[in-house]
Amino acid sequence: MNRDRALAIVKEHLTDHRYIHTVGVMNTAIELAKLYDADESKVELAAIFHDYAKFRPKEEMESIIKSQPLPQDLLLFDKELWHAPVGAYLVEKEVGISDLDILNAIKYHTSGRTNMTLLEKIIYLADYIEPGRNFPGVEEVREIASTDLDLAVIYALRNTIQFLLKKQQTIYPDTFNTYNAMVQEYKLRRS
Ligand SMILES: [Fe+2]
Ligand SMILES: [Fe+2]
Repeated sequence: MNRDRALAIVKEHLTDHRYIHTVGVMNTAIELAKLYDADESKVELAAIFHDYAKFRPKEEMESIIKSQPLPQDLLLFDKELWHAPVGAYLVEKEVGISDLDILNAIKYHTSGRTNMTLLEKIIYLADYIEPGRNFPGVEEVREIASTDLDLAVIYALRNTIQFLLKKQQTIYPDTFNTYNAMVQEYKLRRS
């Protein structure tokens, strides 16, 4: 599927604001793909469709999670997490994308997971640093992203966990597990 067709499909499902965010994620993800030698066409499609399910009704997302082989504990956590696995499911079912690398990058773009692939890291990070984002600390992560993909993902995870802690929100275990595993690997590689 080419870029224009993919963008036209996704536009129907997003607000203008979220569509602009999506284009930002796409451009950032492609830059990262060039920098870190990832498959640009897969990166492009994963970025375009990463927030496909963002505006689905809560009830629809809930029933998809219940009916699919997805971790049921998602339902105990913030519904912000749900659009990622539900998105992967719907992008396969409604758009017909069956490439597992692309679907997993969509599926894990909010929580992360241990042993993320290059594609998954790129989508996770691009979602965090695209030009429309302006959380505290994002500029630092942008700078690190230009030289060290793993360290940038670690910083993005750390900032996200800190942000949730400050707001006294729950943190999905996969996010902690991803942070721990990536810090451990990073230290090992440097020792
Ligand atoms: Fe998202
Ligand atoms: Fe996003």
